[in-house]
Amino acid sequence: MSINAHTSASTGDCRIVSLERFGDLAGTLSVVENGSASPLGYDVRRVYYLFDVPAQASRGGHSHHEQSEFLVAVSGSFDVTLDDGATQTVHRLNRPDRGLLIKPGIWRTIDNFSAGAVCLVLSSGVYDESDYVRSYDEFMTLSAGKR
Ligand code: TYD
Repeated sequence: MSINAHTSASTGDCRIVSLERFGDLAGTLSVVENGSASPLGYDVRRVYYLFDVPAQASRGGHSHHEQSEFLVAVSGSFDVTLDDGATQTVHRLNRPDRGLLIKPGIWRTIDNFSAGAVCLVLSSGVYDESDYVRSYDEFMTLSAGKR
């Protein structure tokens, strides 16, 4: 396990990624694939999604040592707040053809879910609890060099 990501991570390195769209009168398709055509810079090793989230609920509340994640509002909308220990940014996700790429070492919270919202997450790693930092105090300690 490395703490390097937390010392170097910046909210400015996280970005909105627009996905390719294939549309016609029958609707629209967007795609993410592994390999050289990937818009994410990593191969996806895990897919999960949040749904049935109450409007007042807050999800996330952690950072990762090594894993990157790409969040897409495939339905509805929600806010993602990113925190690198010195700077916070808020992104409202509300389109299935645009997502937010979150680098390692960034604390994220997700809230203000609309009714029926679905948050799709494409992760660079399989589920590994040791990759999580779930204590905000620990996150701030790991990120301390930036303040
Ligand atoms: P958690 O990481 O707390 O969700 P979030 O950060 O979105 O609020 O995960 C909730 C539960 O689901 C927790 O018991 C761990 C489990 N879980 C898995 O088993 N595998 C996974 O890939 C994820 C993301 C969570």
